[in-house]
Amino acid sequence: MRKHNKGQKMTKNRQRAAVILAAGKSTRMKSAKSKVLHEVGGLPMLAWVAKLARDAGADRIVAVVGEINADVRASAEALGLEIAVQEPQLGTGHAVQCAQDCLADFDGDIVVLYADTPLIQSATLKRVYDGLDAGCGVSVMGFETDAPAAYGRLIEVGGNLEKIVEAKDASPDELAVTLCNSGVMAARAGTMFKALDAVDNKNASKEYYLTDIVEIIKNSGETAKAVRADEGEVLGVNSRADLAKAEGFFQDQQRQHFMEMGVTLKDPDSIWFSWDTEIERDAVIGPHVVFGPGASVGEGAVIHPFCHIEGATIGKDAQIGPFARLRPGAHLCEKSKAGNFVEIKKSVIGKGSKINHLSYIGDAEVGEGVNVGAGTITCNYDGYAKHKTTIGDGAFIGTNSSLVAPLTIGAGAYLGSGGVITEDVPDDALALGRAKQANKEGWAKRYRAAQEKRKAKRENS
Ligand code: UD1
Ligand code: MG
Repeated sequence: MRKHNKGQKMTKNRQRAAVILAAGKSTRMKSAKSKVLHEVGGLPMLAWVAKLARDAGADRIVAVVGEINADVRASAEALGLEIAVQEPQLGTGHAVQCAQDCLADFDGDIVVLYADTPLIQSATLKRVYDGLDAGCGVSVMGFETDAPAAYGRLIEVGGNLEKIVEAKDASPDELAVTLCNSGVMAARAGTMFKALDAVDNKNASKEYYLTDIVEIIKNSGETAKAVRADEGEVLGVNSRADLAKAEGFFQDQQRQHFMEMGVTLKDPDSIWFSWDTEIERDAVIGPHVVFGPGASVGEGAVIHPFCHIEGATIGKDAQIGPFARLRPGAHLCEKSKAGNFVEIKKSVIGKGSKINHLSYIGDAEVGEGVNVGAGTITCNYDGYAKHKTTIGDGAFIGTNSSLVAPLTIGAGAYLGSGGVITEDVPDDALALGRAKQANKEGWAKRYRAAQEKRKAKRENS
């Protein structure tokens, strides 16, 4: 009786596990790095898939890795995934079986994901789980395509899935089917592992196919169903060309997303985003702006063309560029400005402060209402360590100042142009850090006369 009650509870709220297959050799990528660690939108594909599993409510995630993919194993561990090793690689069904020991105590739903298929939406994956909740024995994510090529074909009869046939093993009639297998499939743990035990390798590839479990489960009296995903979403990456395709698909999604959120993109196709870019409404992004990971842009901010922004926060109504580079730790407050050819790293730029031209500001804390003149450089690095520059509110930094850190410029201080400032400047003081100018009356006229005379002598000799 107790057992039965427990079973009912699990039906309503079953645990979810994801098994991510990542043991393939990925030879077509021609890379020293494993395929699944290549990035789309600045995030490795393996991390995309782990994020998908988490977003879809997976309580446990097991990555299946091969012995040669040491980099994949390290990344999977860093992502907090459990590890199962598949050696040798005998096919996708065998790969899932390799996760069985890890999941020995697990009796919820298992979804299988491929680490080289990074762009599946969690809402689509939830529909696969919904298939199980609706009573299916196995639920598969399929997609319609005009180019089914080598994908497995989903054979449906009366809305139910009969089986999946791999292209290599398919009859001409089956090859004509355009509903294909994405690779994502879910079943209860017991159902999946029991069916896998019955899978053999009597097929064209002599592999243990995961896809065979559909027919096995169906023949055991349960139903199998397919949910439809968009073709772009389930794009599997096997080569650099596929990687570029996936990147293009992701970028288009991001562009649509931000425009729908009320962001103006002046030339959407030339603007590049990362997986975690955040932009508030009424921001205006000019052509050829690239957002690396960790960038956020506040409401009404304007990013002029050709800026590179990574790990940086841009406040409300700030103005950036053209041609500005904001590096990790740059934090520009409301209404601040970073103009053309300005690079900012690990620095806070206070409200309304302006760094309009040709500057490098690193490891600095700039107060509010500060004017940093053209060509100002924070000399933050001595070859061994980085040092901090602090600039108080309302200070005026003359053009072409070299601020040799560690350094504190007081509030309201005024720095004359061209200074090499090595000592702290008190509030409201004038600091001049340059050689005193000497004017020599009539010198230029005398110089020209002497040179002209010499030139004439040379030409006459
Ligand atoms: C698989 C499906 C096919 C589907 C297609 C979608 C099978 C038998 N076929 O074919 O129906 O249309 O994906 O892209 O499942 N892997 C391992 N260990 C192995 C073999 C593969 O971990 O022994 C991993 C790979 O690293 C990869 C994934 O499983 O992440 C898929 O393997 P792959 O060989 O690319 O399968 P396909 O032939 O593309
Ligand atoms: Mg494949």
